[in-house]
Amino acid sequence: MWRFCTYKPEETHRFGRILGQFAPAGLCIALTGELGAGKTLFSQGMAEGLEVEEQVTSPTFTIADQYFSGRLPFVHMDLYRLADADEAWERGIYEYFDGEAVVLVEWPQIMLDDLPEDRLDIDIKRRLDDDGAEWREIEITVHGEHKWLEEALAYGENLIS
Ligand SMILES: Nc1ncnc2c1ncn2[C@@H]1O[C@H](COP(=O)(O)OP(=O)(O)O)[C@@H](O)[C@H]1O
Ligand SMILES: [Mg+2]
Repeated sequence: MWRFCTYKPEETHRFGRILGQFAPAGLCIALTGELGAGKTLFSQGMAEGLEVEEQVTSPTFTIADQYFSGRLPFVHMDLYRLADADEAWERGIYEYFDGEAVVLVEWPQIMLDDLPEDRLDIDIKRRLDDDGAEWREIEITVHGEHKWLEEALAYGENLIS
């Protein structure tokens, strides 16, 4: 497990960007964190790292947005509005895992057991200093082999607090 701190929105964005730059085809990321934690900001950073040209917005109403302009296809999901795994099946969520696309799933809790076993779980927690300053704790739990991640994190060492 890896743990990082970011002290500004730009740092969370940059952290996503570094992972996007190194992300291999077929990568799945389950991204958790309360509202306002920084999930969308992180996702936008990842999209930039993947060289997605479009502006990436929150897919809360569309459930899944696909972008094909980058280095790899990028699928950005937000399952917040789905009731359960059955509804995810009905919505065809599983068809997005085509082996090539990098799939980032916000609010993955309803279908964690059905996501690819080989994935990264990333949790962003909002923290407050004694003096009221906000920061974020980003925790990465690695499932399976992800050698690229060490490379990415080593590359980002000076960039990430
Ligand atoms: N270190 C930080 N990392 C990420 N966001 C931060 C940080 N500090 C403050 N923020 C603020 O928190 C909010 C995160 O919003 P957003 O990415 O939309 O969250 P979510 O998608 O998890 O609901 C933004 O308004 C951002 O400016
Ligand atoms: Mg969001």
